[in-house]
Amino acid sequence: MISADLVVLANRLPVDQVTEADGSTTWRTSPGGLVAALEPVIREQRGAWIGWPGNADADIDPFMLNGMQLVPITLTACEVEEFYEGFSNASLWPLYHDLVAKPEFHREWWDAYVRVNRRFAERAAMIASEGATVWVHDYQLQLVPQMLREMRPDLRIGFFLHIPFPPAELFQQLPWRRQILEGLLGADLVGFQLSGAAANFVRLVRQRVGHRTQRDMVHLPDGRAVRAAAFPISIDTAGFTELAASPPVAARATEIRRMLGHPAKIFLGIDRLDYTKGIYPRLRAFAELITDGHLSTEDAVFVQVATPSRERVEQYRLLRDEVDRLVGRINGDLGRIGRPAISYLHSSYPREEMAALYRVADVMVVTPFTDGMNLVAKEYVACRLDDDGALVLSEFAGAAQELRQAWQVNPYDIDGIKAALLDAYHADPKEITRRMRAMRRTVREKDVDAWAARFLDELMGRPAPRP
Ligand code: F6P
Repeated sequence: MISADLVVLANRLPVDQVTEADGSTTWRTSPGGLVAALEPVIREQRGAWIGWPGNADADIDPFMLNGMQLVPITLTACEVEEFYEGFSNASLWPLYHDLVAKPEFHREWWDAYVRVNRRFAERAAMIASEGATVWVHDYQLQLVPQMLREMRPDLRIGFFLHIPFPPAELFQQLPWRRQILEGLLGADLVGFQLSGAAANFVRLVRQRVGHRTQRDMVHLPDGRAVRAAAFPISIDTAGFTELAASPPVAARATEIRRMLGHPAKIFLGIDRLDYTKGIYPRLRAFAELITDGHLSTEDAVFVQVATPSRERVEQYRLLRDEVDRLVGRINGDLGRIGRPAISYLHSSYPREEMAALYRVADVMVVTPFTDGMNLVAKEYVACRLDDDGALVLSEFAGAAQELRQAWQVNPYDIDGIKAALLDAYHADPKEITRRMRAMRRTVREKDVDAWAARFLDELMGRPAPRP
């Protein structure tokens, strides 16, 4: 029977199943920054990670990997549809991202969300040792803190939201708004990417639940106090820098430039294929610069990597068709033999290939309509070993608050994006270096380890729960 002093809960387990040459399957830690930051802490603290392995009806026993106890949660095919694709990604995701797409609300989806959240909470209640610390992650699990507190009042519970938390005007559309707020209030510490999001939460709690609030604290009638604060997440900076500096990645970067025909400058976008990422306006802006005669396909190419994501959700299917059509039209109109305007890759790549792309890109273009943080922007900065490369960044990405030296744009303003792309293209190398050096200092000082340590220190420092 597992017993853990630190329990992490996230919708997904931090592992991928891989098939070996002999056909057998094993697990490998996935390359994300979150697991890089938490793995050492989990190992030291006899910790466990509870999550979904990523496919329906997989009934897998807990297992050990790299010193972490991994505890898989089973979701039925119907729950994948209603909890994951439905309530999490077709109700909450668009609602929390500024209604970039229209959220759908269905009562069966909500019922599945409650049921799956309870399953996660029950599992955590079962394995957490007396007085353990539990850290719950993200929008898929917002009811877990309260459910868990009811089952195990001895635990210290933290919650971190990786995506934006919307203003009251949007959040109050949610038919189950009060339940979500009360769910989060089960935590001792509720973390957000930005202070504005924490303020949105505190204001909503005051207005909708009626609790007394004072700056970043919520005072509950039972005497408990909950703190809501900003903890901007970051990346495994040293890991990315080291990878970018490795000879195979350097060689691959040279090869990519050659395969693209040695254009004067390479523009790059890397995103999950998600409607929040603003892929459409950036490609249009780039294409218009060619049409207007400011750039030519000899001078510039735009490499756009779009990682497949949530492909069974209707809005994601529509987006894929839209981007496919746009890329086809732009290349049909503007490309020449061996010189497409846009090199479009609908695929996911290992970290090594990403690092090579970051190394080879002269202008990185990150234009989400809204984004909790956007780690791609930080990864690009970490990989610019020579303090060069220009970052064009949406002012609506959380990262814009730290990466102030980027060329910041309003993603809704295509002329503004065009101006920024051109400015970055023509920028003086000294100006590029000045900006990149400052941004590199930021991502070096504030990496994902510092983020995790700050959150956990703050959580451990909260008053001990009453027995
Ligand atoms: O940024 C939110 C998030 O849910 C991450 O936690 C996750 O890595 C990413 O989006 C991909 O989402 P999904 O788990 O739905 O594939």
